[in-house]
Amino acid sequence: MINKLEWDSKFFNKNIANLDITSLKINFDKVENFVKNNKIDIIQTLAPSNKINLINDLENHFFKMEESVVTFTKKITKINYKNDENIKIANIEHLDYMKKYLNGIFKESRYKRIVSKELIDSFYYTWLKKAILGKFDDICFIYELDNLPIAFITLKINNKKANIGLIAVSPNFQGKGIGYKLIQHSERFLLQKGVEIFNVRTQGSNILAQNFYIKNSFFIDSLKFWFYKVY
Ligand SMILES: CC(C)(COP(=O)(O)OP(=O)(O)OC[C@H]1O[C@@H](n2cnc3c(N)ncnc32)[C@H](O)[C@@H]1OP(=O)(O)O)[C@@H](O)C(=O)NCCC(=O)NCCS
Repeated sequence: MINKLEWDSKFFNKNIANLDITSLKINFDKVENFVKNNKIDIIQTLAPSNKINLINDLENHFFKMEESVVTFTKKITKINYKNDENIKIANIEHLDYMKKYLNGIFKESRYKRIVSKELIDSFYYTWLKKAILGKFDDICFIYELDNLPIAFITLKINNKKANIGLIAVSPNFQGKGIGYKLIQHSERFLLQKGVEIFNVRTQGSNILAQNFYIKNSFFIDSLKFWFYKVY
């Protein structure tokens, strides 16, 4: 039910635990014992928006809402899309340039009240680097302009489903249809891999991103809330 997140704890230099609330009743005594025994600094838990009693229980035990999470989904259908020569698979040499616009681009991170901006940037940099190496996400596509990778998308495939890990377009080039092209390219790639369902999660406060997904024919699948208790 509650477990320490070893990787996150090491990365953020705080003892972070995740409380999995699949059951309808939380044993808060057990939770507090775990906190004491493992010197936990932060507990995080993701609560479905319709589980009001559970949410009230969390609030009564001093958990605070950090962010909402909207999951978008779509069924990938055959698309008539011509190969875009500007889109390529990223390699590690692209990372230096991408770092320039990566810093601060994911403004709505749920970690923003808990750790420094620099650490959040470093978290996304690590995520992107791993995606390029195929270590956490499976692949990263870039959009190149004058040989510079001005946008990227990372994908994780799980049988017939795939998730967008990260997607970003350098600020000077946003709103020009580059994100759309990356989505189209990804769908074509995923279709060839036998993937049928395409999902993406975004922070509820990231309204621009949500409108972007809606424009790309995704629809809302679920709404959840991140609750945190900081000791
Ligand atoms: C979200 C993002 C990837 C969209 O890519 P994009 O190339 O800017 O989007 P497109 O040009 O293909 O599509 C434009 C549509 O996306 C939405 N949009 C999202 N962010 C936008 C932005 N900064 N500027 C303009 N439109 C934006 C709008 O709905 C817009 O439609 P409209 O012109 O009818 O209003 C990009 O803006 C971005 O990198 N944002 C910051 C990082 C981020 O939030 N990533 C998503 C995290 S889950």
